[in-house]
Amino acid sequence: MPKQPKLAVLVSGTGSNLHAIIGKLDVRCIIADRICPAITDIASTARIPNLTIKRRFDQCFDHTELTCKVLDTLKFFDIEVVAMAGFMTILSSFIFKAYPNRILNIHPSLLPDFKGAHAVCDALASGRKITGCTVHIATEQLDAGTILAQQQVPILEGDTIETLHERIKIAERQLYPKTIAQFFEEYL
Ligand code: GRF
Repeated sequence: MPKQPKLAVLVSGTGSNLHAIIGKLDVRCIIADRICPAITDIASTARIPNLTIKRRFDQCFDHTELTCKVLDTLKFFDIEVVAMAGFMTILSSFIFKAYPNRILNIHPSLLPDFKGAHAVCDALASGRKITGCTVHIATEQLDAGTILAQQQVPILEGDTIETLHERIKIAERQLYPKTIAQFFEEYL
């Protein structure tokens, strides 16, 4: 692989985007906020250094503490660019100051439509015929920041959240690694 900035990927779920990124780019470290297949299956099989910083899911959850641990890990691995790939915790603002315009995210809608955790469900309920996915620069505002790339995906008759999300994720797995590679060339 050609020389590229040191990349970390943040995950919480199945890790299909992570898998696609690993297939195309050099990933230096993977961080999860919970035990998930992205770590137990994909990161371990790929033998990429990884860390699970288990978060709480009650009112005692401390965003600052988790963000500090994520940032410490990024610094330890000398990471230059971060790709959130299904990472389900909102990070505290200071990490975006530590990595200005260097944290990317993929979202399963055509932003600015359908921000938030229920993007696929909301697109389905809207009655539209087209949704899609967006790669953007992450900021402290949820699902905001400069849009780098989008891909349309049709909503088909009889779609469920699961069938539609899987069709979107097929598009994401093409779009995200390609867009990160372009970002390395055009923005750094
Ligand atoms: C993707 O649809 C992504 O857009 C959203 O979370 C999902 C992660 O899927 N933010 P996976 O864990 O990469 O399979």
